[in-house]
Amino acid sequence: MTLISELDLPDLPIEGPEFSADPMRFLTPAQQKHPWLARFRAGYVVHGLQAGRDLLAMDNRMGPHFHGVVEHFGAEGTEWARFMSEQIATTSGAKHDRMRASLASAFTPRRANLLRPLMRDVISRLLDEWAARDSFDFVDFASHFPIAVMCGVMGISSDHVRETHDAIEAQILCLRMDRNLLPDIMAGYEVLRSFTADVIREREKSGERNSDLLLDALIETKTAGGLDENELRDLVITLLLGGYDTSKNELALIMNSLIEHPDMYQRCAVDKAFCGKVVQETLRLTSVATPSRTVFEEFDYQGITFPRGTHICFAVALSGRDPAAYDEPMAFRPERKANTRHLAFGRGTHICLGQFLALAILEEGLHLIAQRMKNPRLAGEVTWRPFRAGIWGIRTLPVAIDPEQGSQRGG
Ligand code: HEM
Repeated sequence: MTLISELDLPDLPIEGPEFSADPMRFLTPAQQKHPWLARFRAGYVVHGLQAGRDLLAMDNRMGPHFHGVVEHFGAEGTEWARFMSEQIATTSGAKHDRMRASLASAFTPRRANLLRPLMRDVISRLLDEWAARDSFDFVDFASHFPIAVMCGVMGISSDHVRETHDAIEAQILCLRMDRNLLPDIMAGYEVLRSFTADVIREREKSGERNSDLLLDALIETKTAGGLDENELRDLVITLLLGGYDTSKNELALIMNSLIEHPDMYQRCAVDKAFCGKVVQETLRLTSVATPSRTVFEEFDYQGITFPRGTHICFAVALSGRDPAAYDEPMAFRPERKANTRHLAFGRGTHICLGQFLALAILEEGLHLIAQRMKNPRLAGEVTWRPFRAGIWGIRTLPVAIDPEQGSQRGG
């Protein structure tokens, strides 16, 4: 066994701006030195698909790495710090297992499918406004898309979409790890906290129930004893946060790929099943989330010892480009016969709770967008967000389209 710190590993500058715009410039030489492991400023990067799959499943040896974020901001003892350490994405062990078990029935593929008509309705209304424009930043459109849909599937009034959007944007500033942003982050969190508390209280008081809606399903879980009051509120906030930046960025990445493949884009307008394949291929090639773990119990894997305290970043977006797992990994081929599944939604006990909702939202969204945003082309420079800081993706994607005349609706 060799201690991980004694290995001669390549460095991957995953925090730098050059990396986020063109990871392959750095990944290809790194893969030649070590097929699945590299070093970065704060620990190690796992970029191989099989190693990512094996290691992410070791929930009994490592857990999510969030306490460092609160310490970094000097925010210990605040309500925000409590949320950061107790919510479903950051908690581990028995509490996490209980929450996942009680939520399983609210996040099935069946429920995601039940919500498709509602998704289509919300997306169509959003497109009434955006498809009539001739040019805009697609990232701006994409940022409204998941909030509107998530509020819709939760059963939260669309009057609150703007307020929620701004509060979530403020909250995710923490990914930038800039201490000067703490007041904005705290303010965003407070808005979300009181907003979700009000929404839950009003819904409970109304006595109305529609078990298709996610919020009602979660209230039912609480009533059945599966969640307490804080857990329910934290969960609604986490769902808004977890479903926002990921879906927003994935949608922008999908559009970025399809601008280069107009024939595929046109097919998306008429073939919804193909939209699903495009979504999966984009998740393989450019997924957005980068789960982190800290080892709490030493273990060995493939001749390497990972001691307690080791920080590991799972670059699942790079795992989808692993030449050992995929033929021609850099080719965008939605029809590819992949013999293995990507890791875009993670693996192990923290695997994405909203993955079926995300797939349905993106598939329905792409189908309607392709029908109504005609002939999209690049109208300026594509700029990228940092790879490492939480969620990777495109910062700006200026597009021009053939604007829709009148306000006809796609179906
Ligand atoms: C394309 C869209 C999405 C991607 C790529 C994505 C990716 C991920 C990944 C990789 C994780 C695991 C993180 C880790 O292991 O530390 C995760 C967790 C999570 N995601 Fe998603 N996600 C997406 C959409 C959504 C949506 C729409 C929702 C809400 C409806 C959601 C809710 C969650 C929650 C609650 C967790 C934490 C689960 C837990 O820790 O038990 N995600 N997501």
